[in-house]
Amino acid sequence: MKRTLAALLAVLMMMALLTGCGGQKAPAEQPAPGTPAEDAPADTTPAEETPAEGAKEPELVLRYAENQPEDYPTTQAAYKFAEMVNERTNGRIKIDVYYGATLGDEKTVIEQLQFGGIDFTRVSLSPLAEFNKSLDVLQLPYLYKDADQMWRVLDGEIGQEFLDSMKDVGMQGLSWFDAGARNFYNSKREITCLEDMKGLKIRVQESELMMDMVKALGAEPTPMAYGDVYSSLQTGVIDGAENNWPSYDSTSHFEVAKYFVLDGHTRVPEPQLVSNMTMDKVAALDPTFPDIIRECAKESAQIERQLWAEKEAASEAKVREGGAVITELSPEEMAKFQEAVAPLYEKMSDEDKAIIEKIKAA
Ligand code: GCU
Repeated sequence: MKRTLAALLAVLMMMALLTGCGGQKAPAEQPAPGTPAEDAPADTTPAEETPAEGAKEPELVLRYAENQPEDYPTTQAAYKFAEMVNERTNGRIKIDVYYGATLGDEKTVIEQLQFGGIDFTRVSLSPLAEFNKSLDVLQLPYLYKDADQMWRVLDGEIGQEFLDSMKDVGMQGLSWFDAGARNFYNSKREITCLEDMKGLKIRVQESELMMDMVKALGAEPTPMAYGDVYSSLQTGVIDGAENNWPSYDSTSHFEVAKYFVLDGHTRVPEPQLVSNMTMDKVAALDPTFPDIIRECAKESAQIERQLWAEKEAASEAKVREGGAVITELSPEEMAKFQEAVAPLYEKMSDEDKAIIEKIKAA
């Protein structure tokens, strides 16, 4: 009797294990967005998956780092990318997506990519440009007339040249994800004119250009990692920050810094990247695989842009309902913000100035 019971228990346990293993894994213990999780140790091992019957064991298991939460457009597109690569390499390559900055903040992830410690990532252009200063020209304040102009640039020759230029710093740019326009928000006061910016302590990304921009607008920049911003707003270490609608919403920054001004100072696109060392390994497995990676990255970017548009609208509605005070600037004030950052353009090299002309003409 005892033996029968034990056998039954063993079968039940086996079934529970099997049913718990299907589908896209969510690496255990991934932290909530905006929590100081970026310093979390990189020990979140994705759950073991049992390959479907007849499916091959992957020959390469690669890691993809993402600092946004699981339901965010960039993470969802990363899952799609991983899925497409797995299908098109007949299961020979498997990509595990680690979201919520469990593999480190963006700067750390970029460094890891250079040495092949992490294989893929999607990062904001701002921290990336510290590794390849020529990228700054693509994220100057008030550079693009609108999103369409930015896409004409990024999806054209200029965008491809910049993706290719990453080779020199140990990685390859694969595609461009959307991240909308960034706006300032703070806990102190409504911003209705340029003078209102004066003296505010504003968190910026770890980017020299973004520090200069905030200084030019009369505020005081504090560079810090994304995951530290919520607690710094809460404790008053900083008065404000700047970001797009989906980030303002998903980090809950709107709860601790409710004054949001629609100044749209930057459009900071987000490249998907692969380590040069990873591309070598992929090519060694099959010389046609690097092209598959590139093609899946481009397709996943199209998916991300679609998801982004939906998320942007939903986030805007949510933060408005959640009590954020949204301010529009008059055209005269907007012009003052733009004039204030003009010195940043003057500081650019002649080569950059020529690119700026091309962008403006696009
Ligand atoms: C956006 C972007 C992140 C970035 C963050 C930041 O949310 O998607 O990748 O880390 O801005 O302000 O640091």
